Amino acid sequence: MRKPIIAGNWKMYKLHDEAVDTSLELKPLVANANHCEIIIAPVFTALKTVADRMEGSNIQVAAQNCSTQIEHSAHTGEICADMIKDIGCSHIIIGHSERRQFYSETDESVNQKTKACLHFGLTAIVCVGETLDERESGNAENIVKKQLTGALAGLTVADMERIIIAYEPVWAIGTGKTATPEQAQEMHGFIRRVLNETHSTEAAENTRILYGGSVKPANVKELMSEADIDGALVGGASLDANSFAQIVNFK
Ligand code: 13P
Repeated sequence: MRKPIIAGNWKMYKLHDEAVDTSLELKPLVANANHCEIIIAPVFTALKTVADRMEGSNIQVAAQNCSTQIEHSAHTGEICADMIKDIGCSHIIIGHSERRQFYSETDESVNQKTKACLHFGLTAIVCVGETLDERESGNAENIVKKQLTGALAGLTVADMERIIIAYEPVWAIGTGKTATPEQAQEMHGFIRRVLNETHSTEAAENTRILYGGSVKPANVKELMSEADIDGALVGGASLDANSFAQIVNFK
C-alpha cells in the first residue's frame, strides 16, 4: 500500500515570519490527518524556524533545491544537502520545471542533486513534466521518460525507497488548467511502467507518484481517486493554511 503524500511547494513566496505563521496555522488543521504524509516546502530563509516549530507534529519540511556538490567547498550561493538535513528537513524538491526553465537545471544536474539527497539519507521529490508544445506534438511520454531516466540514472532499487516522483505538466502549473484525472492517470501509469523497466516491479509498485499543476480543494478528490495518483504537489493553493488543509483532508 502506498501512503498518499500531500506536499505544499511555497516557491518564492512568504517572508520568514509569514512562512512560520502559515505553518503554525496549518498544524492544528491537519493534526488528525493520518491517512497521508504532509510536507511543506518554504523558502530557505524560513526552513530552520519552520522545521523547529513543526517538530513532533505530522508535518515534514522540505527544501526546494540543493547543490549538486556533496563536499563543503567553494561554491558561492549554494547549499549542500546535508546543511538542509542538519536543520531538520527530511525532503528536497529536485528538478522543478521552474528551475529547469529559468535556472538551467538539466537532467544531469537533477541526477547529481538526487544523488546528493540520497547520499545524506534525505528523500528526493523528483519533478518531471512536459510543456504544452511537447504535449501537442505528441512527445509528452518521450520527454517524461527522458527526464525520469536521466534523474534516476545510477540509482539502485534500494535507493528508490527514498524517491518520490512528482508529475507536473508545465502547462498546468499556475494556469488554473488542471490535467484531467484521466490525463494525469495515463501519465502516472506510464511512469510506473518506466520504473518497472529501469528498476524493478517492486520499485514501480512502491514509488509514490504525485500530481502537480493547479491542484485545489475542488479537484483533489477526483485526482486522488485515480489508481496511480498517490498524492499532490501543490503550489498556489498551498499558500493559504485553510485551503491547503482542505486538500490534505481530501477524504
Ligand atoms: P500550482 O499548484 O500553483 O499550479 O503549482 C504547482 C507546482 O508547481 C507545485 O510544485
